Amino acid sequence: MKNYAIILASGSGERTGLDMPKQFLKIAGKTVIEHTLQVFQNHPKIDGIIIVANKDYLKKAETLAKQSKCTKLLKVVQGGATRKESSYNGINSINDSECNVLIHDAVRPFVSSKIIDNCIEALKKYKAVDVAIPSSDTIVIADKSNLIKQIPERRFFRRGQTPQCFYLPLIKKAHELSLQDNESNNVTDDCSLVLKYGLSDVYIVEGDHFNRKITYPLDLAIADKLFQLKSLKLEDVDFRTIKDKVLVVFGHSRGIGKEICSLSKKYGAKVWGFSRKNGVDVSNYELVKNALEDVYKNERRIDYIVSTAGILNIDYLENRNIIDIKEEIAVNYLGVINVAKESLKYLKESKGSLLFYTSSSYTRGRAKYCTYSSSKAAIVNLVQALSEEWASFDIRVNVINPERTATQMRFQNFGKEPEDTLLSPKKVAKVSLDTLLGNFTGQVINVTREDLF
Ligand code: C5P
Repeated sequence: MKNYAIILASGSGERTGLDMPKQFLKIAGKTVIEHTLQVFQNHPKIDGIIIVANKDYLKKAETLAKQSKCTKLLKVVQGGATRKESSYNGINSINDSECNVLIHDAVRPFVSSKIIDNCIEALKKYKAVDVAIPSSDTIVIADKSNLIKQIPERRFFRRGQTPQCFYLPLIKKAHELSLQDNESNNVTDDCSLVLKYGLSDVYIVEGDHFNRKITYPLDLAIADKLFQLKSLKLEDVDFRTIKDKVLVVFGHSRGIGKEICSLSKKYGAKVWGFSRKNGVDVSNYELVKNALEDVYKNERRIDYIVSTAGILNIDYLENRNIIDIKEEIAVNYLGVINVAKESLKYLKESKGSLLFYTSSSYTRGRAKYCTYSSSKAAIVNLVQALSEEWASFDIRVNVINPERTATQMRFQNFGKEPEDTLLSPKKVAKVSLDTLLGNFTGQVINVTREDLF
């Protein structure tokens, strides 16, 4: 039986207080709806996708789907005044008499392929399936005067998510019955209709806390952070895809850069390394330009460019000498700009990816680090901007944020520290490769000794 995803994107997004519906806002380099479409596009058991959009956004939705290579898109249909109407329009646009539909909020871009899998599996046994998680909040039932009528036992409560999934004839029937029923106008989801008319049991598939709905401005900020935290988990990266790809590493002679070179060589990449050791100082624009030209002359393409080159001089600003400061900024920040600027033409051609490094001090400056931490903050900002400038070229730009790492730079500045308090450069190299080969952009990838997720 075929499985179609209906992506509901016809909401007005009033609650965000922004002038554009939230599904069309950009997070992590792509609109929310593109992120959502990507999950269904990549799921092997989804046969087709229908987008339901407001009449003013029909064209935009179609363009975005095309832009994100959503080849499973079957049609974009016009939504209605309520979610229920939008969902009905989506359901009605399907001609197959026997199939399943997975009705999903466009504003839930974190839905996992595991949830989709579990829903499709559950549809073999049940005609209606919902996704929900236990409620961590106590639910109170209030009356019109804002007085609590009842506080039901929390353990029985779940919070509904989407997709809500159905055998098509069943959900069609539910909607048809609701057309003659004014009381159903306030219904905010499809499972309610099935229950209201007693058409079927509704089985619950376990959702997850990431599968959040973006509704309020705060949700946008949280979603941005979640993309940062989860971006690697969303990918299923196969390092073997780097075989025969051309990788250039600036800062290759030691530390993280060195580990990236060995790991990618192990998987068959053609690796070119540059550093001051072989005469390439990233703070010198001409040297960066020549290095990349040289690689291109030899390989006729460049797929991935990484710059780990950085220096750290610790002391209070008053004690620092201006020549050292200029050198630090020239390497740490101008170096990144030099590499970025010269990388563009090659990465445009290969639709490749660029990767830089920040430090955990980027979010908050630290005493004695002021020039280092501010140059690292600047890199994050630059990466975010470039990811937007270059999204239309299909170039991805990200930045790795490793916590204290066992590199020579660290030893030189801090002396010997217990091994188990430091991150290994090998782990940072692995995450770097994940990021180069993944498909997200504009992200700060935090690397810690222990994985948070
Ligand atoms: O309004 P609510 O938060 O329940 O919206 C959930 C999803 O339903 C959103 O993706 C929104 O775009 C969609 N929706 C719709 N048509 C409406 C209202 C909401 O497609 N009239």
